[in-house]
Amino acid sequence: MASSSYYGFRFLLCLSLLLGFNTIVLGGNFNTLFDNLFGEERVDIRDDGNSMTLTLDEYCGSGIVSKNEYLYGRFDMKVKLVPGNSAGTVTAYYLSSVGAKHDEIDIEFLGNLTGDPYLLSTNVYADGNGGREVQFYLWFDPTEDYHTYSIDWNPDRIIILVDDIPIRVMLNRQSIGVPFPTKRPMRVYTTLWNGDSWATRWGEVKIDLSNAPFVAGFKNFKANACIANQGQIENCKGFNGGKNRGLDTESKRNMKKILSKWVVYDYCADLRRYAHGLPYECRKENLLQFE
Ligand SMILES: *[C@@H]1O[C@H](CO)[C@@H](O)[C@H](O)[C@H]1NC(C)=O
Repeated sequence: MASSSYYGFRFLLCLSLLLGFNTIVLGGNFNTLFDNLFGEERVDIRDDGNSMTLTLDEYCGSGIVSKNEYLYGRFDMKVKLVPGNSAGTVTAYYLSSVGAKHDEIDIEFLGNLTGDPYLLSTNVYADGNGGREVQFYLWFDPTEDYHTYSIDWNPDRIIILVDDIPIRVMLNRQSIGVPFPTKRPMRVYTTLWNGDSWATRWGEVKIDLSNAPFVAGFKNFKANACIANQGQIENCKGFNGGKNRGLDTESKRNMKKILSKWVVYDYCADLRRYAHGLPYECRKENLLQFE
């Protein structure tokens, strides 16, 4: 599984090749809200900043990072994934803080051979603890059209949504000792990179660089979020008013359908990995129906 140190390593490789550039940004969303993270001209922002493509070529991937740090919020992005043979490519849309005990909320799209399904991989790190992967196949071809992928992070729960259908809910269970991100502001990242050491069939299928460049499209980024720059988290603590923002009946019904059909992997069901005991929040006595 991808760990953030792995990301870090990737980025450093690219940065060291291209140090010294600086993208000047003007107007619009991607332009005003984000900085170049790596890959420089492989980040192509258009439509007054409303749309963007990221490119991965034989030398480097590319990515952007938000200028602001946020504590809580809902972040929507329309994404159209790399078509054709995308094996080994990883398109990631995630929130992350920095530092040793970091928090992170991940949506990663693991590419595949032509005709084989993409995997949508989700994970949550809190206080540096990760290992909470839940993975899905999608009920549509994510390379054919734009679809909306969302992370809704509030003090009570994290909800991950696809086209407004919740596919994963992680409740804040700090009361029973389960780490949950509540303290560290995070930035929004969007990246496309070569993860072929692990991404496709656990690394068995490598990237075919003769297909490069690989291009993914992004548009209509939307953040309804609390800005918490320079550690200023006080104002954000009750963002969403600390209101219970659970799922309505229809969302619950939709989510149940997705869970019954499209889940490929759930860490809470991995008895081999957790032979010595499931993570605390997965144990029978602690399991909660999503609310
Ligand atoms: C790729 O396709 C294979 C075969 O259908 C499948 O087992 C795998 O889950 C797919 N996704 C990834 C990322 O390996």
